Amino acid sequence: MSTPAAEIQQVQTIRLSDVCKSYGDYAVLKNIEAEVARGEVVVICGPSGSGKSTLIRTINRLEEINSGSITLDGQNIHAAMRTRELNLLRSRIGFVFQNFNLFPHLSVVENVSMSPIRVKGVAADVAHDKALKLLDRVGLADKARAYPGQLSGGQQQRVAIARALAMEPPVMLFDEPTSALDPEMVGEVLAVMKSLASEGMTMICVTHEMGFARDVADRIWFIDAGQILETAPPEEFFKSPRHPRAQRFLADLRH
Ligand SMILES: Nc1ncnc2c1ncn2[C@@H]1O[C@H](COP(=O)(O)OP(=O)(O)OP(=O)(O)O)[C@@H](O)[C@H]1O
Ligand SMILES: [Mg+2]
Repeated sequence: MSTPAAEIQQVQTIRLSDVCKSYGDYAVLKNIEAEVARGEVVVICGPSGSGKSTLIRTINRLEEINSGSITLDGQNIHAAMRTRELNLLRSRIGFVFQNFNLFPHLSVVENVSMSPIRVKGVAADVAHDKALKLLDRVGLADKARAYPGQLSGGQQQRVAIARALAMEPPVMLFDEPTSALDPEMVGEVLAVMKSLASEGMTMICVTHEMGFARDVADRIWFIDAGQILETAPPEEFFKSPRHPRAQRFLADLRH
């Protein structure tokens, strides 16, 4: 008999069932079936154009789907809903983009506190204090009053992570968060992601950082031409990928 704790561990947070998406005649996602358990860290990898960004963007409804369903703790993400409901739903799924997407005319602390104030109605001073704590957590307490344009790429990306965390999302999505960074800044962003993972955050990350995938992921999803062809723990995936296309992908990476 399982203990209550074990049952909680097994709760699936996100479930994708038979998800299909096309742009015109072009099928980008084909019958995607996948689950993410609470606290699980998934790394999505696959060749360019395989549908990784599209897949992750459907999970907080930045992209609509044509059929199938996606649920977060049982709630249908693609159900008909009002804008306000959709904004609330989106705020429960943090999203970190390749290009940071900070508001350039707002200070760092304003970037981080804005959504809690606007979307959740948190009092400005409370949101501000919390933003400062989050900035401290990502190592940027001293940059609270700076503007995004005054920060390095790695610093901007850490602000973007703090901004997403300010909404206390149960799930964080990352789409190539380090691809736009100079190499010396990749580590500082991965370190923040790693610490989030170790605190039990449920995460789905599209990344080419295979070291991160190996060390931090619980599971790799390998996607090619809009299909998840293989899911496996990293040690298995990197050592002995089963699908021929995954084998080829890893061989190309090694070259
Ligand atoms: N808005 C769009 N309209 C039409 N086609 C699109 C659109 N967005 C993406 N696509 C196509 O869908 C496919 C999947 O794109 P997607 O961006 O999801 O790939 P990806 O795996 O994230 O690639 P990369 O590794 O280069 O980021 C590609 O062939 C792309 O050209
Ligand atoms: Mg992409």
